[in-house]
Amino acid sequence: TDDMAEEAKKLAGYAAVDNHVQNNQVVGVGSGSTIVYAVDRLAERVRQEKLNIVCVPTSFQLDVAIDGADEVDAALTLIKGGGGCLTQEKIVASCAKHFIVIADFRKDSSALGQQWKKGVPIEVIPMAYVPVSRTIAKRFGGEAVLRMAVSKAGPVVTDNSNFILDWKFEHIHNWKEVNIAIKMIPGTHTHTHTHTHTHTHWNCCWCSPSYSGL
Ligand code: A5P
Repeated sequence: TDDMAEEAKKLAGYAAVDNHVQNNQVVGVGSGSTIVYAVDRLAERVRQEKLNIVCVPTSFQLDVAIDGADEVDAALTLIKGGGGCLTQEKIVASCAKHFIVIADFRKDSSALGQQWKKGVPIEVIPMAYVPVSRTIAKRFGGEAVLRMAVSKAGPVVTDNSNFILDWKFEHIHNWKEVNIAIKMIPGTHTHTHTHTHTHTHWNCCWCSPSYSGL
């Protein structure tokens, strides 16, 4: 239910801040509705423990970055970008020594892309969305659909003035290879499963009333 999911998001956000943030750190903060709970907890700890913490939405050489995710598999490969902030989130994550993912039980996925059927978001330069979409469908199957705005006519425009393709597919892919192959398509800006952060230490704070750990 929605209430259970909110409670789980809160547990995950609080656990990330309690277990991974210490005094005198620089912390990268991501986006989405789960991260709001982490920020609440950070503010509380700063007040109560008089912590000296600097939070930045983007920078380099961060100690810790915390962010939500749309789907997470057993290898901690993620789908992110449901909210359209993927490029900047990925830059923040890539700058951090430790990247903490906070996710409630609904995000636990055995086959990425099948859980919510929303696909993998891919940020593209606007004039390239047609060829990129065709290339992806031809090479990997499925369909890469331009994300349209809900409240107005026309496509969603990202913070970087780009478009988003949501790629929906049927089969499980080798994410490492697909990740590299998609990046090589001209006009592709970013997409979001994040096996590429080889220098980043991954952690995941799962939380549900009945499931916590990792
Ligand atoms: C935004 O583009 C995202 O990657 C979010 O971090 C992700 O969609 C998770 O959001 P919620 O915490 O709202 O589920």
